[in-house]
Amino acid sequence: MLVKNLLPAFAAIGSAAAQAGVCKGTTVNSQADASQLASCRTIKGNLIVGPQSGAAIDISGPEQITGDFRVEDNGQITTLTSTSLQSVGGQFRLNNVTGLNTVDLGKLTTVQSIYWVAATRLDTLTLGPLTKAETIRISDTFLNTLDGFALKSVGSFKIDNNRRLQKYTSQLTDLSDELVIQANGIDLEVDLSNLNWIANMAIANVTKFSVPSLQVVNGSAKFDSNYFTSFSAPNLTKTETGDISFVGNGFLKNMTFPKLTQIAGGLLIANNTGLDRITFFPKLQKISGAVKLRGNFTEIQFPSLNNVKGAFDVSSTANIRKSCDKLSESAPRSQGGNGDIEGVFSCTADNKQANDDTDGSTSDSGNVDGTDGSTDGENSASGVVLNAALFGLVAVAGLASAL
Ligand SMILES: *[C@@H]1O[C@H](CO)[C@@H](O)[C@H](O)[C@H]1NC(C)=O
Ligand SMILES: *[C@@H]1O[C@H](CO)[C@@H](O)[C@H](O)[C@H]1NC(C)=O
Ligand SMILES: *[C@@H]1O[C@H](CO)[C@@H](O)[C@H](O)[C@H]1NC(C)=O
Ligand SMILES: *[C@@H]1O[C@H](CO)[C@@H](O)[C@H](O)[C@H]1NC(C)=O
Ligand SMILES: *[C@@H]1O[C@H](CO)[C@@H](O)[C@H](O)[C@H]1NC(C)=O
Ligand SMILES: *[C@@H]1O[C@H](CO)[C@@H](O)[C@H](O)[C@H]1NC(C)=O
Ligand SMILES: *[C@@H]1O[C@H](CO)[C@@H](O)[C@H](O)[C@H]1NC(C)=O
Repeated sequence: MLVKNLLPAFAAIGSAAAQAGVCKGTTVNSQADASQLASCRTIKGNLIVGPQSGAAIDISGPEQITGDFRVEDNGQITTLTSTSLQSVGGQFRLNNVTGLNTVDLGKLTTVQSIYWVAATRLDTLTLGPLTKAETIRISDTFLNTLDGFALKSVGSFKIDNNRRLQKYTSQLTDLSDELVIQANGIDLEVDLSNLNWIANMAIANVTKFSVPSLQVVNGSAKFDSNYFTSFSAPNLTKTETGDISFVGNGFLKNMTFPKLTQIAGGLLIANNTGLDRITFFPKLQKISGAVKLRGNFTEIQFPSLNNVKGAFDVSSTANIRKSCDKLSESAPRSQGGNGDIEGVFSCTADNKQANDDTDGSTSDSGNVDGTDGSTDGENSASGVVLNAALFGLVAVAGLASAL
């Protein structure tokens, strides 16, 4: 009897509490609007801060926004705070918020994605720190640190045009889509000490780059116009599907790849004019794409290389005739070599224009005799692999230029 009477009362209390805690998505146009959300625990839907919000918006109360959290085309807001917000189920978007200098969300740990573009004064950031996100883009902010980001895993991470950013120390252990770092502060040091594997990366305009634990690049790794003098991947063993490329790194003198055995795509090293020898691939055995080397080298050595599916195309401003002679022993049989290299072999010395040709997609022609319709199994197979590799180079170039 007693139980029967009590049940409806409990149910009623429960649903009243639920109603009090859950609020619908809404647009906040003032601090007064924001204060109305103080009793909400969950905002179901999108929470949008309108363009005429005034300078300070404090959204304390809600712990969760199930949809997006957006502040856009707002030149008035200077500080965005919440002492309660823990998660955003959709996108956390700050776009074209040119007065915003402070984001203080000390409990925020989880978002689906971050899209912060043109928060040009944002220099004071407090997050939970953030430990969960699938995609992050931070572009054109005034941040000098990304210490609020403490993710171990992420899908894609793009950091570009943050002119004040000088150091990025990351706890990432793996990254499943792409890392793009480009056009940030000119002294930017990137420290990815815990990174074990990464799907793809395109790194440009960086002064120091550290990947001591990196073992596998699943796709491609591309380094353009960086300022580092040395590059070291002491634990990298292979790329699983893509290319390795270094183009226009004008200060680069020295690289180390002591454990690299396989590149599943192509290898492009071009216009790194300080690099005077390529003797840092002691264990590299197999390259499934094409090789293109352009630079001021005097010496080239690949002591363990025994199979290159694509073309092998070398040109230097200096005298590399000795290296050419040695490398030509691996040329295709039709060119008088032992056939370790399956595509066209070419090696030229004293070419003043060697550094002008930096395009990965020009090293085509996997077929020695140029007969594309060849019924020769070996040749047509290498042609297919080569095309896949070239597609990789083009795809990574496209990705970087899409920024
Ligand atoms: C950026 O926001 C301002 C308002 O602060 C607006 O006038 C301007 O048109 C916006 N710019 C773009 C590119 O949308
Ligand atoms: C990348 O390679 C690592 C090591 O082989 C593997 O554990 C991981 O699942 C791969 N990731 C992707 C996205 O292929
Ligand atoms: C930054 O790198 C890009 C290549 O991604 C290059 O075009 C650009 O010139 C570099 N900027 C500077 C200032 O070096
Ligand atoms: C390098 O890889 C090995 C496994 O192959 C691992 O035991 C070692 O800790 C790694 N070194 C670093 C610096 O991460
Ligand atoms: C070669 O690299 C230098 C920077 O070191 C750059 O200024 C130049 O434009 C690059 N040349 C080509 C053809 O990419
Ligand atoms: C290249 O760098 C490695 C360490 O990364 C170092 O052991 C080696 O001596 C350097 N070689 C040259 C020629 O500077
Ligand atoms: C590299 O070669 C180019 C073209 O010959 C030359 O202008 C440049 O001075 C050389 N750079 C170095 C560092 O040797």
